[in-house]
Formats: sequence, C-alpha cells, structure tokens
Amino acid sequence: MITPPPGAGKNLAPKIDGVPNHVAIIMDGNGRWANSRGLPRTEGHRAGEYALMDTIAGALEIGVKHLTVYAFSTENWKRSPKEVSFLMGYSRDVLRRRRDELNEWGVGIHWWGRRPRLWKSVIDELEVAQELTASNSKLHFNMAVNYGGRAEIADAMRQIAGEVAEGSLKPKGITEDTVRRRLYAPDSPDVDLLIRTGGEQRISNFLLWQCAYAEFAFNPVPWPEYGREELWNDILSFTGRERRFGGAIDKVAPQ
Ligand code: FPP
Repeated sequence: MITPPPGAGKNLAPKIDGVPNHVAIIMDGNGRWANSRGLPRTEGHRAGEYALMDTIAGALEIGVKHLTVYAFSTENWKRSPKEVSFLMGYSRDVLRRRRDELNEWGVGIHWWGRRPRLWKSVIDELEVAQELTASNSKLHFNMAVNYGGRAEIADAMRQIAGEVAEGSLKPKGITEDTVRRRLYAPDSPDVDLLIRTGGEQRISNFLLWQCAYAEFAFNPVPWPEYGREELWNDILSFTGRERRFGGAIDKVAPQ
C-alpha cells in the first residue's frame, strides 16, 4: 500500500484487468483553473503538485509500470518571462521536495528533454533525482522537461546523420529501430494510453514517435482537480477498447 499524499481520497483501487504498461499525461488546464478562481495562472501550476503526487500514487496502486508527464515543452518558452521563471523554479523545487518520498515509494525518476536553455539548477535537480532513484523499478516516472516530440526526432536524426558522415552507419541500414534506439529513452515501451486533462483535444508535440498506436483519453477535468480516481476511470475506459495496431478482424458472421 502506497502512503497516500495528505488528504487523498479514501477509495480503494479497483481491480483492473489489462492495465496499460505506459501511461502518458498532458497536465493541462492549470492556468484556466486558476484564472476562473480569480488567481494568477502560476497558482494553477502550484496546485498541480498535489495532483501529480496523487496520480503517481494511483498509478503505483494499480500497477502501471511507466508514467510520463509533460512538465515543460520546447514551445513553453513562448510564455511570459514570469510564468517561465515560475515553471523552472517550481520544477526544481518539486523535485527537491518530493524526491525522497518518491524514492521510498520505489519510483525511478527519469528526465526526457533537451539541455540547451534549461536552467542549470533544474538540470542539477533532475540529475540528483535520477541518480538517487536509479535502482527503482516499481514505476518508471519520466518527466518531460524542455521536451518536444519533433525536437526528440530531430536530435535522433542529427545523430544518425553524424554516424552516416563518419561511415559507422550506412543509409541503407537505417530502419525504424535505428531511430528508436536514438530517442531519449530507447528502452522505454511505446505509450499505451495518452491522457490529456483540461478539455482540449490535441497532442501538442508530446511523444510523437511513442504515441504511434496510443489510445487517447481527453478528460475535461483541469489538472489541479485530477488524481488517482480520475486516473483509474480513464484507465477503465481504456481497457474496453479493441486495439488492432493496423491489423483487422473480419467480424461478419459466417453465412
Ligand atoms: C499546462 O497547463 C501545464 C503546464 C505547462 C505545466 C505543468 C506543471 C505542473 C502541473 C506543475 C507541477 C508539476 C511538475 C512536474 C513540477 P496550462 O498552463 O497550459 O493551462 P491552460 O491550458 O489552462 O492555460
């Protein structure tokens, strides 16, 4: 049993058959949640910390093995300097505040993203958290910080072009696997379920390669109000879906 974050709901985890191995979450709706309460957008991000901890606890309780969250995208630099500074400082502080608790829960923390532009203090905290939790495998918790799906693919392509130029890779030998092995986390499985909170229905440059056959759940609940029970409900709706991965089954009854 995972120690719930303070104030967590008391409902027990349901028994779910076919829990997705890899769940990804776009934690959207923070700004709108705050503004609708007369608060600045940054207060919505602040409220997102509790939602995140409760969601991680809920993922552990039902046996999700990989959870990837979009904390800051390569496009989020377009936001106001005040909001960017808040998000940088807040990511750093959340990591510092929560790493020991996550370590006790058996969570391995991993960073997916680009180094350039990212605050050094954020990189330092991500690296400390990664090192501290490196041997944990109950849940692989991936934080996408300064992450973009196109940037990740472009970074892999640059590496491949370099290897071709130096002669260690032949163009004819390039396969899907060649690309996959140069992504930020080559050993991470494809995403099974992508959840976006906050009511918008788009992918926003998140995990473009890994979501090739992901199922999508668009939940209207804003991120600060999300938590384990919302996660379990989104997963329950996923388990009823038929996934064909491009294949097809003829279901016409024989005549
Ligand atoms: C999207 O909502 C949210 C973000 C860009 C930041 C996510 C950050 C947190 C949830 C803070 C806690 C988590 C970590 C990992 C430190 P939005 O601002 O786009 O909301 P809006 O669509 O209502 O404008």
